[in-house]
Amino acid sequence: MDTRAHWDAIYREKGAEGVSWYQAEARLSLELIIRVAPPDGRILDVGGGASRLVDGLLAAGYFNITVLDFSPAALEQARARLGVNGTTVSWIEADILTVSLPHHAMDVWHDRAVFHFLTAARDRERYVKQVGDALSPGGHVLVATFAEDGPTRCSGLEVVRYSPQALLHEFGADFQMVSSAREEHVTPAGVSQAFTYCLCRYMPTAAGPKQ
Ligand SMILES: C[S@@+](CC[C@H](N)C(=O)[O-])C[C@H]1O[C@@H](n2cnc3c(N)ncnc32)[C@H](O)[C@@H]1O
Repeated sequence: MDTRAHWDAIYREKGAEGVSWYQAEARLSLELIIRVAPPDGRILDVGGGASRLVDGLLAAGYFNITVLDFSPAALEQARARLGVNGTTVSWIEADILTVSLPHHAMDVWHDRAVFHFLTAARDRERYVKQVGDALSPGGHVLVATFAEDGPTRCSGLEVVRYSPQALLHEFGADFQMVSSAREEHVTPAGVSQAFTYCLCRYMPTAAGPKQ
């Protein structure tokens, strides 16, 4: 089974509220986004799946929201939950490593629990290039991964665990740390998982992103 089919099968089998990464409210992500983006900020939730971050953003008054995921089941579940409220959201079914996004057209790139599945250095490089292409200079990237003492696997897949400094290092010299935070996520099964959140500002230099 390819990776996309793997994720799609999990959403179909468990439903949005049964997956280990389910949050009733994406509180920390929302707080950090509100700190750096005005209500007209263009927000991209990468690998957003059926996350409720979009619900929180809409409730906070954001209206330029894009949710991207390569699982059709996840996007269907989010759209069904939001109903008419979701009609202003742009939903993109695509692979973040290969999708062609509008150039420098996003103010915030949010990713919770996607980047840490990129175990190959070339995939992480492609990802960082996508961030630099999509974000407007001065925009922000907010990435949440398993922390150094978090789980080594999720949903049967290996992950890379990060400290805030290690995440910043992956992104390279064009990104400046704004803040970082640790969160203990409790899964629907009651298991605690430590996450690292890293909020960085995109300040491209002539040297370009890390090669
Ligand atoms: C662990 S879930 C996290 C979902 C969501 N961010 C949240 O916090 O609820 C990982 C998500 O990333 C998506 N995903 C994984 N790799 C992807 C890729 N290369 N392109 C697009 N989506 C991807 C999966 O379909 C899944 O929805």
